[in-house]
Amino acid sequence: MSELSYDEKTVSGFIVSSIFWGVVGIVIGLWISIQLWLPSWNIPPWFTYGRMRVVHTNSLAFGLGLGATFGIFYYLVMHLTRRSLVFPRLARFHLHAFNVAIALAALSLFAGMNQTLEYAELEWPLDVAIVIIWVIFAVNVFATVIRRKEEQMYISLWYVIATVIAVAILYIVNNLAVPAGLLKSYSLFAGVNSANVQWWYGHNAVGFVFTTPYLAMFYYFLPKSTGLPIFSHRLSIIAFWSLVFAYLWTGAHHLVYTPVPDWLQTLAIAFSIFLIAPSWGSVINGYYTVGADWTKMRTHYLTKFFIMGITFYGLQTVQGPTQAIRVVSQLIHYTDWVPGHVHMGTMGWVTMTVTASMYYVIPKIYRTQIHSVRIANTHFWLVLTGQLIFSITMWITGIQQGALWKMTTGEGNLRYTFMEGMVKNYPYWQMRTLGGLVFTAGMLFFIYNIFMTMRGGRSAEPARA
Ligand code: HEM
Ligand code: HEM
Repeated sequence: MSELSYDEKTVSGFIVSSIFWGVVGIVIGLWISIQLWLPSWNIPPWFTYGRMRVVHTNSLAFGLGLGATFGIFYYLVMHLTRRSLVFPRLARFHLHAFNVAIALAALSLFAGMNQTLEYAELEWPLDVAIVIIWVIFAVNVFATVIRRKEEQMYISLWYVIATVIAVAILYIVNNLAVPAGLLKSYSLFAGVNSANVQWWYGHNAVGFVFTTPYLAMFYYFLPKSTGLPIFSHRLSIIAFWSLVFAYLWTGAHHLVYTPVPDWLQTLAIAFSIFLIAPSWGSVINGYYTVGADWTKMRTHYLTKFFIMGITFYGLQTVQGPTQAIRVVSQLIHYTDWVPGHVHMGTMGWVTMTVTASMYYVIPKIYRTQIHSVRIANTHFWLVLTGQLIFSITMWITGIQQGALWKMTTGEGNLRYTFMEGMVKNYPYWQMRTLGGLVFTAGMLFFIYNIFMTMRGGRSAEPARA
């Protein structure tokens, strides 16, 4: 089958949308990072920290993350099944509906509509719209996989399928609610049950929005772009099944030392530690794949992105299980350590993998070469530096915060008031903004490079415009 029959416009539409929402999310990220040390940057009621923080997380997790996932999954599914999408018009509709939903989500969050469940803040009419959009996506993916022309199911397809099924179940269950008017609803779960369901969802959002989609991309684009076959298919499959099995039990590690039953916390902690194995299965598979020719790290720019991305994934999946352990949790929980963990995963693993995948896909779609490898390298170093500044400063200040909160006087009173502890964060929060600025500069180089590649491709191939 000729590549021309692949539905590439929808793929590039999603990629461009994802970049757009990424810019919105990153600008807001910078803004809220400033608000923390310069409160005058709060402009009530719309542009206050409480409202903008959720716009930041939603535009990046769902706008940038899922936007890229939709586009690149369509690309992967078509190429791995060797056929075009069964419903190309539905995919185009999906693209438009996705953008409208994210825009409405941002607007409603700015307006203060929020059901106060992290990563599930949207009120019920938008939840319904999102479920419909997801079903549209699932129908296209499954129909295309079922009618595939390639019998073999490569590992990336398994990750695609897991993402589609898991997100649907998680999203629907955690959002079960009784509407109380058009813009308000009450969750079906209350108290400890609510917390438990919420973090079952919350941690699996990490698993199936921030992990499995990028593993699908990693397993496809690393061998494709380097020309090196994946080290072990068997390892990739074992890691896949154990990862999806273990993830679903880990949510309660967010609820250590809460009224959630102790045995449930222990179960979640045990599964969190178990997760190191399947996570590192993929890390090792990646290292051994490139191990066939390590010079690629120097000579081939995308290898750097993928290998550094999977390295941060590897670090993240050791740090995460460590945080789940009770004695560590009691020091770092509620502190800035956690945003340090989050941004190593999102700025390191997610962003590196997704931008590298786009660097691969866009020139293919536009029948051209990447505009500038030099700019891509500059992008790489800036994003890496920005992320390290961000995460390391947050880890330092997180430990300091935790230690100050625990410190007691000889009589057993708390040594520091909350405010005394908080002002000590200011220099670190300022450093975080600096890290964010460096990261943003890197992303601007990326956007310029992608834009110029698209422009060059179009002029080289006007018939495809
Ligand atoms: C083996 C894998 C992982 C485990 C066991 C794990 C464990 C944890 C734990 C225990 C927390 C809660 C910290 C606290 O509040 O006390 C946490 C938070 C978080 N982790 Fe991980 N982590 C893992 C991998 C990842 C990856 C790959 C990402 C990708 C970006 C990620 C993103 C996050 C996010 C976004 C949060 C913050 C959730 C919130 O409180 O809003 N984690 N993780
Ligand atoms: C310029 C880059 C960025 C800056 C300055 C930034 C800043 C921030 C700030 C200030 C917070 C709130 C931390 C707190 O409440 O203490 C935050 C949270 C968060 N950000 Fe970012 N961010 C950036 C990039 C990203 C990216 C690229 C992603 C995802 C792809 C992301 C995902 C998140 C998530 C999931 C949280 C919630 C963490 C939690 O609840 O623990 N951020 N960010």
